Amino acid sequence: MSEPPPPFRRTDLPVELRVDDLLGRMTLEEKIDQLHQCGASDTNPNNLALRPDAFRPTYGSFIVGGSPAVLEVRNACQRRVVTESRLGIPAVFAADVIHGYRALAPLPLAQACTWDPELVRRGCALAAAEARAQGIDWTFAPMVDHCVDARWGRIAETFGESPHAASAFSAASVRGFQGEQLGGRDSVAACLKHYVGYGASEGGRDYVYTGISPQSLWEMHLPPFEAGIRAGARTVMSGFNDLNGVPASANQYTLTEILRRRWGLTGPVVSDWDSVVQLVNQGFAADDAEAAEKAFTAGLDIDMSSGLYRDHLAAHVAAGRVTLAAVDEAVRRVLRLKFELGLFERPYAEANALTDAAPDPGQFALLEELAARSLVLLKNDGVLPLAASARRIALLGPLAADSAPLLGCWAQYGQPAETQSIAQALKERLPAGVQLRVEQGCSIQGAASDNPAAAVEVARESDLVILCVGEDGPMSGENASRTTLRLAGRQEELVQAVAATGKPIVLVLVSGRPLELAAFEGKMSAIVAAWAGGTRAAAALADTLLGRRNPSGRLAVTWPRTTGQIPLYHNMRPRGRGGDQGAYRDMPTTPLYEFAHGLGYTTFGYGALRLDRTEVKPDGRLVAEVTVTNTGACEGVETVFWFIRDPAASITRPLKELKHFEQASLAPGASRVFRFAIEPRRDLSFPDDDGRSVLEPGEIILLVGGQSASFRVTR
Ligand code: BGC
Repeated sequence: MSEPPPPFRRTDLPVELRVDDLLGRMTLEEKIDQLHQCGASDTNPNNLALRPDAFRPTYGSFIVGGSPAVLEVRNACQRRVVTESRLGIPAVFAADVIHGYRALAPLPLAQACTWDPELVRRGCALAAAEARAQGIDWTFAPMVDHCVDARWGRIAETFGESPHAASAFSAASVRGFQGEQLGGRDSVAACLKHYVGYGASEGGRDYVYTGISPQSLWEMHLPPFEAGIRAGARTVMSGFNDLNGVPASANQYTLTEILRRRWGLTGPVVSDWDSVVQLVNQGFAADDAEAAEKAFTAGLDIDMSSGLYRDHLAAHVAAGRVTLAAVDEAVRRVLRLKFELGLFERPYAEANALTDAAPDPGQFALLEELAARSLVLLKNDGVLPLAASARRIALLGPLAADSAPLLGCWAQYGQPAETQSIAQALKERLPAGVQLRVEQGCSIQGAASDNPAAAVEVARESDLVILCVGEDGPMSGENASRTTLRLAGRQEELVQAVAATGKPIVLVLVSGRPLELAAFEGKMSAIVAAWAGGTRAAAALADTLLGRRNPSGRLAVTWPRTTGQIPLYHNMRPRGRGGDQGAYRDMPTTPLYEFAHGLGYTTFGYGALRLDRTEVKPDGRLVAEVTVTNTGACEGVETVFWFIRDPAASITRPLKELKHFEQASLAPGASRVFRFAIEPRRDLSFPDDDGRSVLEPGEIILLVGGQSASFRVTR
């Protein structure tokens, strides 16, 4: 007779019972190893899969990535873990699947410009399916940091400057990654990062101090995390940043008080890469041992990469500085995640049709939709869509024929060879008889081979120029801060020289951030923010330039005129003096393009804003409506943005705050009524500096489509 399985192996028992049973069997060392996370890559010199001595089979989690054979490495590690450890507790394998795996969607900032959370959810679901096919159980995404400084390279990974919008995209991404149920075939655990405040890095530098008032923390930085947790996100990653003097990876208030006590997160919090050992560099811990103690007692469960929990926690427990109960609680969170992921039943990942497969036409269609919908037509004097009369087109600039930059940052699994360049996509689509001449003119960052004159020559012999400038992948994302948003290398010189030919120019910007255009914007006929649009960026762009798609993206960030205007964002507080008092002396104080700006090939007319009442009680409901009509000649998607302004409150409120958005595709001549059903407690309250919700009687101004109306909240 074989032994019955221990309770923790029994799928008929509730997860909590299985967790308790397993915990009861573990030694302290085994528990602490569950809180250790390290890298596993077969291209790494410390190759874990091939060098079994490099890790103990009791380690809890691994990061797979940067390796061409993720599935094999993952399963090889898992085999050691499962077969060589006493209890056979499977490891969980994580990776940075940020905007796709091999099939790359646009960068998150670009995705936010679609204003379509459902579309974003579908993109994340595709990424999850691809990641699962490589054995990845857990993605370090979505990134939901709040940032209003485009010098910070990681603005590319954010969902823009509106906490309301970022919350919607946070929840949508979590649903996309995790699917219906954790442990499902196409589901990976989501990880909200970087908790919290990392996006306020001083001066746009990375890894530095963030001074955030408690008010801003609650209003701007915390909401997208809360929304992600409400949507079911199982895990959170703590940030690198020193938050007001107490680093985010050792911050008891944010990690324990807010995350656990108030929001009830039951899954683990993982540190960012080495952020525990960095507490020493930050001056918050005297040495490694103290760093481990401070991070752990603040509420950080898993130590990514630094190894300080592994090396110091046991001594802290022996000395009574860390309680066994706290260790148990942290381990419980890790085990819970593993049970929920089904790892005990299915420790090994199996290859499927998606493993190592090139994206198929269905995936292409979704990626093209995401890329096209994220394009923002910033300016157009009528040159777009391209007219049939343009017979000789010059396609110029460093981004014209290079496909790799279209993938953006966090594209380690992307394949430039599977990604069309803009030149290829245009060639495929231009009607016979149209001549397309391609000339780079200069490189992105500047090189000895730069030759703007060659591009100018081609421009002169053309009817129209499409000029593709911007950034390559590594110029945005982590550790990619810049002091200026100006074009790098000799690109600005190229733009000016081509503009001097007098030919109409369609400027295409490929980037992970808004760029500084002030010096030449007036000379451009059209400007398209194409961002880094992913695997199908070029197809989406070409279709848009040719009028086969009608652009509908709207900016999720304010686009400044110059770098010196940073920070500039729509939800600023009003200033004390009006008129030109306090305005810049050397240029307008307004942005080049406002938040939510974006043009298309059709026009929309807004009817009068209507409210169903002029007073509403805190638990009442007020319905605002506006009829929108497509007044142009082609079908188009219109996004209706509803803002509020609270003109007098006990805590000052922003000039305007986005509270609701909705979109629809309208045929020419068609109308649709858009509604915002306002529930005061949900839509009109604001947090105080400890997160308590405040709703005050008084006037509220509602803004939509250039109109406003006011109503009162009564007692
Ligand atoms: C980044 C995280 C990422 C982690 C693991 C860190 O350097 O800040 O966003 O998830 O590395 O790769």
